[in-house]
Amino acid sequence: MPLVFRTLLFGFVTLLVVLLIIDDIAQVEEEEETHIFSLCRKNILRFLDPERDISILKGTLKPGDIIHYVFDRHSTTNISENLYRLLPTVSPMKNQHHRRCAIVGNSGILLNSSCGLEIDSHDFVIRCNLAPVDDYSRDVGRRTNLVTMNPSVVQRAFQDLVSEEWTERFLQRLRSLSGSVLWIPAFMAKGGEERVEWALRLILLHTVDVRTAFPSLRLLHAVRGYWLTNNVHIKRPTTGLLMYTMATRFCEEIHLYGFWPFPLDPHGKPVKYHYYDTLKYEYTSSSSPHTMPLEFRTLSALHRQGALRLHTGTLI
Ligand code: CTP
Repeated sequence: MPLVFRTLLFGFVTLLVVLLIIDDIAQVEEEEETHIFSLCRKNILRFLDPERDISILKGTLKPGDIIHYVFDRHSTTNISENLYRLLPTVSPMKNQHHRRCAIVGNSGILLNSSCGLEIDSHDFVIRCNLAPVDDYSRDVGRRTNLVTMNPSVVQRAFQDLVSEEWTERFLQRLRSLSGSVLWIPAFMAKGGEERVEWALRLILLHTVDVRTAFPSLRLLHAVRGYWLTNNVHIKRPTTGLLMYTMATRFCEEIHLYGFWPFPLDPHGKPVKYHYYDTLKYEYTSSSSPHTMPLEFRTLSALHRQGALRLHTGTLI
């Protein structure tokens, strides 16, 4: 066999062996990532059942029932007629399984990211606190399958509906959700009762097409318990961490966008707390109810292990 041919054959065989090894390593890594993700899901399920805990169901309460707030145990609220009418009869996430889910946090890191199309390409998109999308769609996308609404949002983003104009804006935002789940933590802390009631009244009055959900009273403690058991000493889990923890039950792959609880980006440029407003936040203040940087470090560790994907960069 001529030397040139033998050299070519040798080169070809070596290349083939290298490719096979690379493929094997990739497969092992992929299997490890799936294994870590399944392990997380299994452990989380020991503490909570997200399909059940995502909402209190109608059959379990009646109008007038007294509820103790989760964080203010000594304060109570009553189940209003409107809230009762909007309690789901079955879990809004019953039998839902999605291949790729995006959870969109509200950090200013999203600005100029051009992540909108990528976010919208997921099978299920979760957003937090009714964050606006219309003027930011290039960076944050539009698709919404589930969105959260802390009662304080009504005050912060919609001026407590002081005028017809603000009420209309709020109503428009609710209408734009058409068909999505609107997740309202109504029983976490006292003070939001009226705001929740205003929102529910508008939904009923204008037959807004949203599927309301009200997290179970055990959810927050269960999520906190899971992370504490894993040595993550969070104070009160943020909406973003709650969503990630619950999504492990419904999603095969979880992608996080807009999670960046730091005042500067990796290049030292200032980053807004929220991509859509001018709110300032002391991430490390002891008076803050959250421990966002610690949550972020935990999510980063899971990213490195392949259990989730944290997107913090810019798409060209
Ligand atoms: N987030 C983040 N970095 C920021 C802002 C938000 O990582 N600079 C993530 C957090 O996980 C947060 C989620 O995005 O929970 C949604 O943001 P926000 O609406 O501010 O969330 P909350 O946790 O509800 O904050 P708060 O309780 O202060 O209202």
